[in-house]
Amino acid sequence: MGSMTTAVSSPSPPSLPALRTAVAGVGMIGRVHLDAVRRTGAPVVGVSASTPARAKEAAAALGVERAFDTSEELVTSDDVDVVHICTPNDAHAGLAELALRAGKHVVCEKPLTTSAATADALAALAAESGRVAAVPFVYRYHPMAAEARARVLDGRAGDVRLLHGHYLQDWLSQPEDTNWRVDAVAGGPSRAFADIGSHWCDLVEWVTGHRISELTAASQTLARSGGLPATEDAVQLLFRTDRGATGTVTVSQISPGRKNRLWFEVDGSTTSLAFDQESPETLFVGSRGENAAVQRDPAVLSPAAARLSVVPGGHPMGYLDCFAAFVRDVHSAVREGGTGGAFPTFDDAARMVRLTEAVLASAADRSWKEVS
Ligand SMILES: NC(=O)c1ccc[n+]([C@@H]2O[C@H](COP(=O)([O-])OP(=O)(O)OC[C@H]3O[C@@H](n4cnc5c(N)ncnc54)[C@H](O)[C@@H]3O)[C@@H](O)[C@H]2O)c1
Repeated sequence: MGSMTTAVSSPSPPSLPALRTAVAGVGMIGRVHLDAVRRTGAPVVGVSASTPARAKEAAAALGVERAFDTSEELVTSDDVDVVHICTPNDAHAGLAELALRAGKHVVCEKPLTTSAATADALAALAAESGRVAAVPFVYRYHPMAAEARARVLDGRAGDVRLLHGHYLQDWLSQPEDTNWRVDAVAGGPSRAFADIGSHWCDLVEWVTGHRISELTAASQTLARSGGLPATEDAVQLLFRTDRGATGTVTVSQISPGRKNRLWFEVDGSTTSLAFDQESPETLFVGSRGENAAVQRDPAVLSPAAARLSVVPGGHPMGYLDCFAAFVRDVHSAVREGGTGGAFPTFDDAARMVRLTEAVLASAADRSWKEVS
């Protein structure tokens, strides 16, 4: 095995007590949070679920000491320092507000809320609270996505001209496919865009430093079995950024065969950079001369990408490692008494909720919308 030049630093000075963490909602992503917290060395002291009985079952299955009867009780408990909110979307805002008012540090899943006004109010409350308030737009933590950002920032890409790509899934492609996300109350008024389009936009804005300032959207909505009021299954956007680039993105949960295909390309005046989260060990670097598939290897990456490269090249890293690195950064900020860092915050997430509202409004009246 080769040697690593840089690794993610240890999150916790040994003199500080372990952060007592609790996870509200232990479905798919709650369990990912739980594992990521444990990788930092912090104890998960409690979980909650949709009912007290389910919380007890989950606590036993996951080796967690305490099952809270409700998520409200969990996020306000005196025995908890950091809460991770991993419930369906409609519960995020209320739980995050309770947690911040109770003085907790909060990691809240995306979308932060299902309305922009609530998201902005929550971001303001987080700023007042002086607590860490983070949202897992974790694709920022792929080393090769961080390498793309480093190459834009240090000028190797040249001037950013075009942004394009897609985020495609297939798991809701049939009318009978269902999930709480399909319900406009539990999921919110936007589905595909809020659920996955927001990840693409956050990532591409972070990589380039550009902000989507104007957009026009076209969406498609399948008729669903069961007569639920339907939310959009696919959206295609055309946009301009605040720094003069233009872009397009297709977001879909009805693309057969595409499981979690988040792909973007940044075309600069010198090189193009393309990243595919399903093949995250390489970054395409295109030029008028030779093209390259730069492989993840901390020895050759930019420092910001090498930092995230916790195993040597050739030992594939992926989504779970992104999550662990995100949680490590957030917990480090909590320990160090800061509120910022490399991780996405409630401000970033509120911006994505505003973007989502602009997308819905544009798709509804077929016009261009500015994004504040
Ligand atoms: N950041 C990411 O990459 C990422 C990935 C997947 C999901 N998510 C987000 O995470 C959240 C959960 O998604 P998921 O895929 O884990 O869904 P899921 O359906 O797998 O899990 C949600 C769980 O929450 C439970 N629940 C419902 N109400 C609850 C309550 N009041 N308190 C506690 N638990 C409750 C449900 O019974 C279910 O077990 C969503 O907001 C989603 O957008 C983010």
